Amino acid sequence: MRDIFDAIQASAKRIKEAIDIKDIGYSQQENSSGETQLELDIKCDMIIEEEFSRVASIHTIASEEKTHEELLHEDGKYFIAYDPLDGSSLIDVNLSVGSIFGIYEGGFGADKMVASCYVVYGPRVEMVFAENKTKLYLLQAGDFEFVKEIRLTEKGKLMAPGGTQQNWAPYHKEMIDGFFKEGYRLRYSGGMVPDLHQILLKGGGLFSYPGTSDKPEGKLRRLFEVFPFAFIYEKSGGEAIDGTQRLLELGCAHVHDTAICFFGSKYETARVKEVYAANA
Ligand code: F6P
Repeated sequence: MRDIFDAIQASAKRIKEAIDIKDIGYSQQENSSGETQLELDIKCDMIIEEEFSRVASIHTIASEEKTHEELLHEDGKYFIAYDPLDGSSLIDVNLSVGSIFGIYEGGFGADKMVASCYVVYGPRVEMVFAENKTKLYLLQAGDFEFVKEIRLTEKGKLMAPGGTQQNWAPYHKEMIDGFFKEGYRLRYSGGMVPDLHQILLKGGGLFSYPGTSDKPEGKLRRLFEVFPFAFIYEKSGGEAIDGTQRLLELGCAHVHDTAICFFGSKYETARVKEVYAANA
């Protein structure tokens, strides 16, 4: 695992440089999720693939930017699904973006996840890596330094409600409105990595991306976004559910499958379970 950890750090440093210097005009290609790919997305994907191809323990990679999985080393045991630059459309307005990595052993699937990691490129570059515990690292003078362990509180104060409100189910809207009436504050940038990072570091709250009338199965991808953050939230003492079930108990039939998702502290996810059970 150490060599994977090192390869992610090497990728993150190179991606930070690419963000700082690269011209970010749109390319004409679409990725597997139907979004227009930025040249920068493609560049970041190549950086990660290059760094991972040097790590013999990695068997196969799957990227949000690639249509198919790619075999790297026949004898490796790890399968890594990654989103090289999540939220990249926020770069032209200079908001934070991130890379997400789900590390699986013996194949892709929530039950095979053994570690998970993300990197936030903001005013600073930070990395969060979860194996048994969740640890925060800060890039300083060219190296990632350990900062602290991350633990969520039982109840938080922040609310990050994803999806177009017009397309929410009435019970979902009522639930989110209820949290705001209780005093929760809105914190939503439209970048999953910084939005979930903020909730983790500021003690807790709820990030939600529900099923909507236009996207009944949600928007966020299971292997690249949902499972990695579910692992990190659980290891930090929080919960990650699809409304009724643990996200890490869901299957994944196709590499680009999405899921309805809620990540948060226990108080907020308990409310979600109550509301969703009553409306199932
Ligand atoms: O997956 C892409 C992404 O940009 C996530 O980073 C983010 O949480 C989500 O989409 C935002 O979606 P929406 O704009 O529909 O709330």
